[in-house]
Amino acid sequence: MLTNFDLEKMVDTTDEWIRTRTGIVERHIADPDVATSDLALPAAQAALEQAQVDVSDLDLIIVATVTPDTIFPCTAAILQQRLGARAAAFDLLVGCTGFVYGLAVAGEMIASGAYDHILVIGAETLSRIADWEDRSTCVLFGDAAGAAVVGPVPQGRGILGYSLGNDGTNADALKIPAGGSRLPASAETVANRLHYLTMNGPEVFKFAVRSMTDSSEEVVSRAGLTMKDIDLVIPHQANLRIIDAAAKRLNIPYERFVRNLERYGNTSAATIPLALDEVHREGRIKPGDLILLSSFGAGMSWASMVLRW
Ligand code: ACO
Repeated sequence: MLTNFDLEKMVDTTDEWIRTRTGIVERHIADPDVATSDLALPAAQAALEQAQVDVSDLDLIIVATVTPDTIFPCTAAILQQRLGARAAAFDLLVGCTGFVYGLAVAGEMIASGAYDHILVIGAETLSRIADWEDRSTCVLFGDAAGAAVVGPVPQGRGILGYSLGNDGTNADALKIPAGGSRLPASAETVANRLHYLTMNGPEVFKFAVRSMTDSSEEVVSRAGLTMKDIDLVIPHQANLRIIDAAAKRLNIPYERFVRNLERYGNTSAATIPLALDEVHREGRIKPGDLILLSSFGAGMSWASMVLRW
């Protein structure tokens, strides 16, 4: 656990600044010997147990992450082996929207009849790509994993629709400059701290509010619903002020927005499955409830989805 007060000792910041500008109070940081698949494994096992699906019945494993254990093998492949599954496996690299992208892919593969059970995981160790000397970014992030098993459901249940999209105009507002084929790792990229996440906060903020609002409106109306019908909204947990602004614009009562970022910070692709699991365990979701998931992230991408539980 890393609190805002701990961060005060690491960079020039204050608990008050972090709380008022982001809503975050504390975040979890993985131990140095813990990689993303180590966080994903127990999340995957818990999801299989809750869904009462045997690992041998899994057809596919999708891991949404920007912090894979290694570039290859992908983290989903590592999990396939560690779970003891006989399943196809791939990673999905779109950033914070990755879990919702993964659900959309899984839903379509099941709807087509190709597969019966797909494990979708959002897992991140963002502490490994945070620049712990940059106060404008390092205070925002945490490490976590969450998972869901997607399977066939009766007509009218499950995924009712989704809106996925990308606008690359401001793609540079959120990136890791080096380590890919454009700028491979070298002594110079390391010396220049180019393997850490960089961000234009205000630019991301504006995009976040606009894209979450627009894609939520689109997906809800395409499903033949109105915002009044939505029982619960699970937004990407990046900043409380982004969630506040989206709630106002969407005209959905604030109490229907799930918020847990004060305890975890922004955990990228893990925020939505983590929040979904918490509200499910708390009994806040009843069968038949309409749930809106809404996220934004690198790319810059957006992904919103309506589910009937
Ligand atoms: N402590 C104290 N002061 C700080 C800190 C800090 N941790 N960080 C920045 N500041 C200072 C800045 O230096 C600046 O000072 P100046 O005015 O003297 O230059 C001042 O605070 C304001 O900086 P802004 O960047 O304008 O602050 P803003 O109100 O925009 O809040 C924030 C910054 C919280 C990053 C906000 O822009 C934000 O949340 N943006 C969206 C971030 C986001 O969602 N990212 C997604 C990441 S991707 C993913 O989800 C994995």
